[in-house]
Amino acid sequence: MQNCLVTGCAGFIGSHITDYLLNRNFSVIGIDNLSTGREKFLENNIDNKQFTFINEDLLNYNKIHKYFKDISIVYHLSANADVRFGFNHPKKDIDQNILVTSNVLEAMKHNEVKKIIFSSTGSVYGEHKTIPTPEDAGFPIQTSLYATSKIACEGLITSYCNAYDMQSWIFRFVSIIGERYQHGHIYDFFKQLQSNPDQLHILGDGHQKKSYLYINDCLNAIDQALNFYNEKNNIINLGYDGYCEINESAKWITECLNLNPELTYSGQKRGWVGDNPFIHLDVTKISKTGWRPECTIENGVRKTVKYLSENKWLFE
Ligand SMILES: NC(=O)c1ccc[n+]([C@@H]2O[C@H](COP(=O)([O-])OP(=O)(O)OC[C@H]3O[C@@H](n4cnc5c(N)ncnc54)[C@H](O)[C@@H]3O)[C@@H](O)[C@H]2O)c1
Repeated sequence: MQNCLVTGCAGFIGSHITDYLLNRNFSVIGIDNLSTGREKFLENNIDNKQFTFINEDLLNYNKIHKYFKDISIVYHLSANADVRFGFNHPKKDIDQNILVTSNVLEAMKHNEVKKIIFSSTGSVYGEHKTIPTPEDAGFPIQTSLYATSKIACEGLITSYCNAYDMQSWIFRFVSIIGERYQHGHIYDFFKQLQSNPDQLHILGDGHQKKSYLYINDCLNAIDQALNFYNEKNNIINLGYDGYCEINESAKWITECLNLNPELTYSGQKRGWVGDNPFIHLDVTKISKTGWRPECTIENGVRKTVKYLSENKWLFE
């Protein structure tokens, strides 16, 4: 039986991965400092004897390295996952993403853990000219501290793998949506419409084109990729082979809520500093595993709105 360690186990994606692994009868140690994570996301597992929750800050190496003992695989999900506010607190991406990843890798080396799954991002491609963007596209000028920090993490991980006989699966996600989603434009729109159902302000001109992937499709893709790719460093785009305009998404969201608000726009091509107006990843590599997403972007957006409507505590 596999012993897994999940960092960021109380977050949106990390809690789903924790469920996924426990459902397959693996043992899971989950570490999270609950900075953006929610204990409620773990409530189904907290009494499971196969699950151990450690409420600890991964920046504190001395407190965390012991939990990596006898672990076969690390799912490293913890991060500052918010792209938009990066320049409001420039050290956050450095600390929460780069330094934490360095601590995770040191703890793995110290305990001879050989496998790491890492949640990177399609943002590393910046505003690439090649769309859909494949894994070997190369990195243009960076526009967000978040993507910059994820590139640094990828560099740390691949160099540790080469030096210390480890193996990595690095997934460059598009935006993931679905149950337990708690940051991003659907959350922001929902929140705005809660306080004023008659108006929705959209950052940018509404024509930004974005790809989204439903959480269950993301989990299945990770599983398929782990079974299919076995290089030392496996770098894989994870996305839906398509995209929508933010205006379309706004239409689906307001339809789901039975609202007809006036739409206003901040007007520019990019919603904020670091926003990429066109994200569509080439998913040929993950498709070679036989994986196909089951949920369309529209259905994923609608499921997310339904979840938020039923879980308004997330906005408290
Ligand atoms: N959600 C997306 O659309 C998306 C897209 C691309 C990449 N990613 C990446 O996937 C991962 C998970 O994202 P998410 O959306 O679930 O975010 P999230 O904020 O819901 O989860 C991150 C978790 O990490 C925890 N955490 C943060 N810093 C910590 C620290 N120092 N010590 C211990 N725990 C800490 C938080 O409490 C939280 O539970 C992140 O690495 C993110 O960058 C997410």
